[in-house]
Amino acid sequence: MLNQLIAKSLPIVPKAIVRQVSNRYIAGETIQEAVQTVQKLNKAGAVGTIDVLGEFVSSCTQAEQETVMSSNVLEAIRQHDLKSGLSVKLTSLGLDIDDEFCYNNVRGIVAKAQEIKRFVRLDMENSPYTTKTIDIYRRLRSEGLTNTDVVIQAYMRRSEDDIRSLAKDGASVRLCKGIYIEPEDIAFRGREEVQDNYKRLLRLLFDQNMYVGIATHDDVLLDFAQEEIAKRGLSNDRYEFQMLLGVREQKRDALVKAGHKMRIYVPFGHDWYGYSVRRLKENPEVAGHIFKAMFTGGR
Ligand code: FDA
Repeated sequence: MLNQLIAKSLPIVPKAIVRQVSNRYIAGETIQEAVQTVQKLNKAGAVGTIDVLGEFVSSCTQAEQETVMSSNVLEAIRQHDLKSGLSVKLTSLGLDIDDEFCYNNVRGIVAKAQEIKRFVRLDMENSPYTTKTIDIYRRLRSEGLTNTDVVIQAYMRRSEDDIRSLAKDGASVRLCKGIYIEPEDIAFRGREEVQDNYKRLLRLLFDQNMYVGIATHDDVLLDFAQEEIAKRGLSNDRYEFQMLLGVREQKRDALVKAGHKMRIYVPFGHDWYGYSVRRLKENPEVAGHIFKAMFTGGR
């Protein structure tokens, strides 16, 4: 109850406190800090996907800056030979401004990634962008940019149809629960409903021989995935587990130790607030952390 109350009150929690308790979820504000985080993860046996924080950009200048930043990240990945791809949000590249403008921005990024043999995942945002994101992904592939793919959200009722149609392109997908608040007519809302659909979709993805990024920290789903993998005798070039930086690190290490490929989502940048609030709302211990930070002043 208290956690839910605190989670709902986050908009009135001072930004400095939010920053302090969300430190664990963010690599830092600079590319250098993101590089160092990925280097540590690589040493620990995990790979990365770096995300420049930012979304729902409404000016062309800002979208262009985000595009340059993603390009700089790719350059850093090349220079340091990091085992890492890139994740991008299309609204940070101008999807709210103009479809063609956004397309050209993302196209430049994916083409650069292709040159250095890296992969770009198009994060999935809220439902007004689902079809547009899939359309952009298809257009990129039609131009030979096959080093990109999309995310499927298990809470969306349309996801089964999306998977069936993506299977025809030979796509790989990241499967996550979905983080945005969506209306009930288009999305499952109950915890168990979402878990059940996640399981159904994971089975379908394996049935369709699609490479899956199993993105979850939920024990029910992690156990289910491991059982399916064992039952089907899948080798670890057919799937990977994916987790967010700073979440369930012991579980992450245990999965790596058990021989599974693990990719960590590594966000960094100045625009940390929206991402941090979403992570804190998911954290069952959020109340404790916020109270501690309030009373210690971050010391
Ligand atoms: P759930 O939220 O039930 O968490 C399971 C358990 O993990 C919790 O009980 C808790 O123990 C622990 N935990 C989870 N979050 C925590 C936190 N913040 N702090 C501390 N402990 C925590 N969504 C989306 O809509 N579009 C996208 O593109 C992506 N991309 C993406 C990439 C990757 C790599 C991941 C892991 C997730 C996403 N997501 C996403 C987010 C996803 O949709 C979902 O909101 C979160 O992963 C949380 O759901 P879980 O499946 O982890 O279950």
